Order: sequence, then structure tokens, then C-alpha cells
Amino acid sequence: MTADRNLRVHVTRPIPDQALDYLKGQGLDVTCPADDGPPSREELLSSVEDAEAILSILTEKIDGEVFERARRLKVVSNMAVGYDNIDVPEATRRGVAVCNTPGVLTDTTADFAWALLMAAARRVVECHRFVQDGRWEWWGPKMMMGADVHGKTLGIVGFGKIGQAVARRATGFDMKVLYSGETAPETSKWGEKVSFSDLLQSSDFVSLHVPYRPSTHHLIGREQLHLMKKTGFLINTARGAVVNEEQLVEALESGEIAGAGLDVFEKEPQVHPGLHRLNVVLAPHAASASLATRAKMATMAAENLVAVLRGEEPQAIVNPEVLEQCQSPK
Ligand code: DGY
Repeated sequence: MTADRNLRVHVTRPIPDQALDYLKGQGLDVTCPADDGPPSREELLSSVEDAEAILSILTEKIDGEVFERARRLKVVSNMAVGYDNIDVPEATRRGVAVCNTPGVLTDTTADFAWALLMAAARRVVECHRFVQDGRWEWWGPKMMMGADVHGKTLGIVGFGKIGQAVARRATGFDMKVLYSGETAPETSKWGEKVSFSDLLQSSDFVSLHVPYRPSTHHLIGREQLHLMKKTGFLINTARGAVVNEEQLVEALESGEIAGAGLDVFEKEPQVHPGLHRLNVVLAPHAASASLATRAKMATMAAENLVAVLRGEEPQAIVNPEVLEQCQSPK
């Protein structure tokens, strides 16, 4: 792509084949580790040294130190809708485009929020373990009683694409849907906008769909958990640090809320030991993990990256001002 050498792309983890093949088919010099596990910091830093582009995933911290080492960098394309692993202001300052993958994972993530909600309410994991461990010896009228889902109130915090997809699914369960969020539309055919505190007080299930940023750090803590119903469930497929995990454990222990379904944690892959409880369903940040969706995310990330390298507009960019700067006459 340049006179003396092909442009170099470093893909920080093995991604679905079609995306890697697409990149290689663009005449790029593509490097990617063979191991699925995370690279050490030094491995990451040395791999990006002469790269024009990085295709990253959400656990790779792309910060000033990375930008300092990757002096030829033009684009960081994250294979995720969230981009809190990237120092975007620093990228912008250095004229590096940051891309993400909104849209392609919306429905898959919404499906999984529902899977957690249903599993937590109806004790699915506990039932499974009970049968699998050979503990099921007789049928009892009071065995494994959980909470109904149909006809209840679902509160959705953050009403972007994923929040709305979760809301749409609630119609099949005859649920009342409430939603809140500073940027949420005033009206929606999928629910009623209310204040955050009204939502917490009135909902049987509270599902979180806000991005992680300083303003959403510990959005749910002791005070908010106290507002929730004692029979309420908290579902988190957004980002772990939106919830104060320590205070969630306290609320679960003291019976302030009935249970939780959690896909994301404050210090992944560590999970607070207090969350290993029967009334908490745990998953390893897997909400977008369907074969089809992960392939779409990887392909979109690869296409975004190539578009930026070619001076074209990517499908999604977090800091469009970087492209504007490149295009505007000097
Ligand atoms: C994202 O895309 O931000 C999810 O957390 C992973 O799919």
C-alpha cells in the first residue's frame, strides 16, 4: 500500500477467520498472535511498534503508552461497541481514528440480557445443578419456586439500541416497560420514560444498558439498590463498573434485592467472591458471543480499519473530528 512496504495491521487476538482473511486480502501486512489468551503488556507494546492500524478487543488497554510506541498509528478499530478500553481523547489529540462496532451485536446482546433475566428469576442454573448433581429425589410443591416474569415491570436504564431491543422483547411477556436515561427519547412505543429513581422503585427487573464513562461509574450503588424492590432483580450486560460490586454483594446478602444476572464485572475476569451465590447467575462477558455476531463484529472492525487506511469513511467512528482534520484543507 506504500512504495516501500505494505501497511501493517496488528490484530491483538485471534478473531473469526473471515475477518482475518479479509484483512490479508487487502494487501496489508497482518500480524496476529496464535494464542487465544491476552498478550502481556510488553508483547502488546512491541507488536504495535511499526503498525499503522490496531484491531483491538475490549480487554486491551490502548492508552498513551501504546500511542507513544505506535508512532505510525492511524486507526484503532475495536471489535466491540464499547470503547472504554481506549483513551479516545489521547487518540484524537494524536490524530488517530477510533472505530467501534455498534448495531451488529444489538439483538444478540438483548437476547442474552433476557437469558440472564429468565435464568435469575426462574432459578434455571440452580435447577440444572440440582438435577445434574443427582439431588432430585422427589417432586415437591414448594421446590424451586422463583419469580414470575410475565406481567411484571421491566426497567431499562439507558435506552439506546440494545436497551430498546430488550424492551421490544418484553411485549411477548405482557410486561410494562419503563426506561430512563439522559439521552433517551422522550417517548417510545416500547415503554414509558420515567426518572431513574422512579424506575428503580417501580421495576421488578432492572436491566442496565448504559456505556461506561465517568458519569456512569457506580451508577448503581447502595442507595440505588435500596430503592429497588426487595423482590427485584438486577441484570447487567453493560459494563461491570456501572455497578458498585461490593455494595451489590451487601444488598444481596441483606435481602435488599432478590437476585441478579451478571455478564460483566468490575475487575474481569475476577468475580467478587460474594457474588458466588445461588440467587446470582454469572456469565463471562458473553452477551455478544453468538457465532454469527462475533463474525459480524470482527468483519465490521476489519472493514472500519481498512476504510480509515484508505481515507474513506468507516461505518462507525467514535472521533469523527480526526477524519475531518485529515480532509480539511490546510
Ligand atoms: C461490547 O461490544 O462492548 C461488548 O461488551 C462485547 O461484545
